[in-house]
Amino acid sequence: MKVAVLGGGKIGEAIANGVARSPRVTRVFVTRRSSSPSLASKGKRRTTSDNLRVCKEADVVVIAVKAADARHLLLEIAPVVRGRLVISVMAAISLSKLHSALPGARLVRAMPNVAASVGKAITAFSPGPGIRASDRKTVEHLLGTFGEYIAVPEELMDAVTALSGSGPAYIAILIDAMVSGALKVGLPRDIAFQLVTKTLTGTADLLREKGVHPAELRDLVTTPAGTTIAGIYELEKGAFRTSIMNAIEAATHAASRVAEKV
Ligand SMILES: NC(=O)c1ccc[n+]([C@@H]2O[C@H](COP(=O)([O-])OP(=O)(O)OC[C@H]3O[C@@H](n4cnc5c(N)ncnc54)[C@H](OP(=O)(O)O)[C@@H]3O)[C@@H](O)[C@H]2O)c1
Repeated sequence: MKVAVLGGGKIGEAIANGVARSPRVTRVFVTRRSSSPSLASKGKRRTTSDNLRVCKEADVVVIAVKAADARHLLLEIAPVVRGRLVISVMAAISLSKLHSALPGARLVRAMPNVAASVGKAITAFSPGPGIRASDRKTVEHLLGTFGEYIAVPEELMDAVTALSGSGPAYIAILIDAMVSGALKVGLPRDIAFQLVTKTLTGTADLLREKGVHPAELRDLVTTPAGTTIAGIYELEKGAFRTSIMNAIEAATHAASRVAEKV
């Protein structure tokens, strides 16, 4: 299978590196406006600025440009992606807008996150109306090369964008804040970083693997008059949970506003 990734930026590169690991993928094309039009080769990869050429050769086309660059790109490739499987990872651009811009293409909308660059993304995807069972298998295979995936109804995509698309930024802020707190009480930065990051992934694994509710886990480690409740009290005073809920709501509204503009 040949895959073209149009827009080799942060997420496009991560996707290209993931799909290149699949034995079923024989060629990965990556395009950027700033690349040269002639194909530069490295292993399975070919880099170029020539979107039309790679779309004609590819079995699957992934669109990973910014929403602001979408109109121009979609106009350019529309004549050559008819009948092709096209996966858009662009935030805010709906399947119906994609369908109008790319008539005849078999469309899937997907929202990965930047953890794709270490093969640990969670990607939500919504297949468009013309998607066959075999297309869905292909999409799941490709998304699985850079993490886990979950099918969601398209109307949830703005909320998904706010939650797991933007989520790495919130988690990075949390980690940074915890490391800063550790520095305040005298822990060296490298030790604090290891402790925080492993606490984060370990807690997430525990909740998933044991099917424990987060509130249950919180209660399990909170002893009367102990250290954890002293910390939780300060978090509650700082409206920690409310801030996070508000952040996700605000980001969802922002995704909807962008969707209305494009
Ligand atoms: N970053 C994330 O964590 C993330 C997660 C999920 C979804 N997304 C979505 O993925 C898309 C890309 O985001 P990003 O963060 O990867 O942006 P980015 O780093 O700015 O990458 C965009 C890439 O698109 C290329 N490009 C723009 N117009 C092009 C054209 N006509 N032909 C070929 N290449 C073109 C740009 O390269 P040149 O400037 O050289 O052309 C650039 O390499 C966005 O729609 C975003 O919503 C991003």
